[in-house]
Amino acid sequence: MDGNGRWAKKRFLPRVAGHAQGVDRVRDIVEGCIERGIEYLTLFAFSSENWRRPQDEVTRLMELFVMALEREVTRMHRNGVCLKVVGDLGRFDTRLRELIAQGEQRTLENRRLTLTICANYGGRWDILNAVNNWRRDNPDAGEMTEEALAAYLTMPYAPEPDLFIRTGGEQRISNFLLWQLAYSELYFTDTLWPDFDAAALDLAIDSYRKRERRFGRTSEQLLER
Ligand code: IPE
Ligand code: MG
Repeated sequence: MDGNGRWAKKRFLPRVAGHAQGVDRVRDIVEGCIERGIEYLTLFAFSSENWRRPQDEVTRLMELFVMALEREVTRMHRNGVCLKVVGDLGRFDTRLRELIAQGEQRTLENRRLTLTICANYGGRWDILNAVNNWRRDNPDAGEMTEEALAAYLTMPYAPEPDLFIRTGGEQRISNFLLWQLAYSELYFTDTLWPDFDAAALDLAIDSYRKRERRFGRTSEQLLER
């Protein structure tokens, strides 16, 4: 979800106003996904690198995260959303960690949409963490397999993403789901996250529908199947 700062700047507002608008957009996109029958949505909310931002911006982002959890979990629950927050959560303060645990607990059995928020997340961290945890649990095993690694990543409950969307004009992965994106379709849009509405989501889905996913096979093989 990129482009909050630029959205605010264009309006001569402080960057945090863009983040606040971005939170509203999350609600719309979650509900847009539900309406469209999408079962998994994963949002990159805060990267391991985002701590390098000015202290007051980091503080405001944490406050917004707390407020969003306080306000939105009931509505999510009503909508059948199962909330997951993944990342290195140890660096967040107690209040935020409590709200995360409560939100996850409350929505645990919902199945309509699994919403994963990646917070203090990094794709490399995820992979290293998986390798180290697997080795701790399997000290005498030989080489690690792809299946074992995938099972130790932070989102074993979710399929690999069909579609990756990056808003805000940048064309990079920026250490998001590195392992899981191996075969995902990538979609980049100049639309800033606070402007990313249901119509923008439909454009991304239309683009995805036009693509042919071969997973290494030829077009002819796909026709034969
Ligand atoms: C939001 O957009 C990303 C978050 C870390 C919440 P940015 O804050 O990166 O917005 P730009 O790139 O400055 O426009
Ligand atoms: Mg940015």
